[in-house]
Amino acid sequence: MTAEADARRTVMAAIFGTLATQSLGAAARLDLADRIGDGERDTDDLAEETGVPAEQLGRLLRTLASLGLCAERGPGRFALTDAGSLLRRDDPASLLDFARLMTHEVFQLTWLNLEESLRTGAAAFDAEFGEPVFDYLSGRPELAALFHAAMSRRTRPAEMASAIANAYDLAGFQSITDVGGGDGTLLAALLTRHPYLTGTVFDTEAGIARAQETIASAGLAARCTTAAGDFFTEVPKGADLFFVKSVLHNWDDARALDILTRCRAAMPDHGKLLIVEPVLPDTANVDTLNHAATENPYLTDLHMLVTIGGRERTRAEFTALCARAGLTVTKVVPLAREIDFALIEAVPDTT
Ligand SMILES: C[S@@+](CC[C@H](N)C(=O)[O-])C[C@H]1O[C@@H](n2cnc3c(N)ncnc32)[C@H](O)[C@@H]1O
Repeated sequence: MTAEADARRTVMAAIFGTLATQSLGAAARLDLADRIGDGERDTDDLAEETGVPAEQLGRLLRTLASLGLCAERGPGRFALTDAGSLLRRDDPASLLDFARLMTHEVFQLTWLNLEESLRTGAAAFDAEFGEPVFDYLSGRPELAALFHAAMSRRTRPAEMASAIANAYDLAGFQSITDVGGGDGTLLAALLTRHPYLTGTVFDTEAGIARAQETIASAGLAARCTTAAGDFFTEVPKGADLFFVKSVLHNWDDARALDILTRCRAAMPDHGKLLIVEPVLPDTANVDTLNHAATENPYLTDLHMLVTIGGRERTRAEFTALCARAGLTVTKVVPLAREIDFALIEAVPDTT
């Protein structure tokens, strides 16, 4: 391919990305992957089930085939590819909920206001919907359920826990507090692997309600507790290892600094803090991206900006923020190649 054609292709791929996203969203909402299942299905049958006329449904299916999500095995007969199978509800690695969430009108409308967020640095979501995203979700249980299901499928807690356990030696610690630990899946997975550890999931009242179920069903009630509170006010003491996973990137620097400062105040001098988040390369370049990872951290950076006013950070930015909270970054360990997260270890600055 000539350099000019290559350049044109790069721009066109970015332009047409939104059309692929909308096609994927329609397929997810029509449950096409579950309907196709293991075998091959005729467009006419799928049309009858979905109530979408065969003429138009066939056009969507062919588009999905062009995107590698299904394949036309005979005229009008479609089967899923491996990629398309990830849109089945029962696939253990299912991305169906995440696809439905990201293509939901709430986020689509928010992204239409990207330029506003770029100018103000504030979440466009708040201006569009009149309240911050988590308040909005708390008043809409169905969307909130979709959000939480999508997030836990996206981060694959069991895989994340084994990547963390492989990347970082947890021997020598006694107790973990997972700050903003959500539904407790990460902590439950870590405690299951390490029977000598005890733990606490610290989150809002609403957050720990789900964590209690996770802990009970993992049979960890004797070793794991929950604590409800506000990490801008106080993080509970008592652990020697603190996790903050996928939390700091929800907040701007001032708020992230508050959370780190509360963590530092809860830590004993010999304690450690592990931040688990994507770490942006020092310079932005197609070549510095981890191409084995499934997400582009620069796109999630902008998603944080428009939805919640947060941001992804480079190693230097994490280090500077930690320093202001009285913490020294001692190492940054990338997790598994296909997971675009790193583990940032920070210890209290006792000098
Ligand atoms: C993006 S989620 C990350 C959850 C979990 N750590 C994970 O990686 O899946 C952010 C978490 O922060 C919690 N959170 C938000 N504001 C909080 C606050 N003021 N105090 C404590 N937790 C809070 C939310 O309830 C949510 O569980």
